[in-house]
Amino acid sequence: MSQVSFEKDIAPLFNQFRASMMWRLDLTKYDDVRLNASMVLSQLQGGMPPPPYPPFTKEQLAMFQTWINEGCPK
Ligand code: HEM
Repeated sequence: MSQVSFEKDIAPLFNQFRASMMWRLDLTKYDDVRLNASMVLSQLQGGMPPPPYPPFTKEQLAMFQTWINEGCPK
């Protein structure tokens, strides 16, 4: 069974953007992302990270969605 884990799969996606978003939340901190998961998802779908950064791929978005659906496993 494949399970998406915050430490192994999700935090590494966000690591390079951590400093940019520290004013709002720490994207590498489990509780910050879990408690704001639906907002993070809608921001990712709506253009975060902003240019010139490349947008998240479909696969990365799907993985984040799966992580939420599985109850945000640590
Ligand atoms: C709670 C969710 C989030 C909110 C409310 C949010 C909001 C914002 C706002 C208002 C800005 C500045 C204005 C703009 O450039 O649009 C910004 C900048 C930025 N955000 Fe987010 N964001 C969120 C999640 C994320 C995520 C998940 C990422 C990474 C994948 C990210 C990466 C960035 C980056 C790289 C910048 C540009 C910083 C700079 O270079 O000036 N944000 N965000």
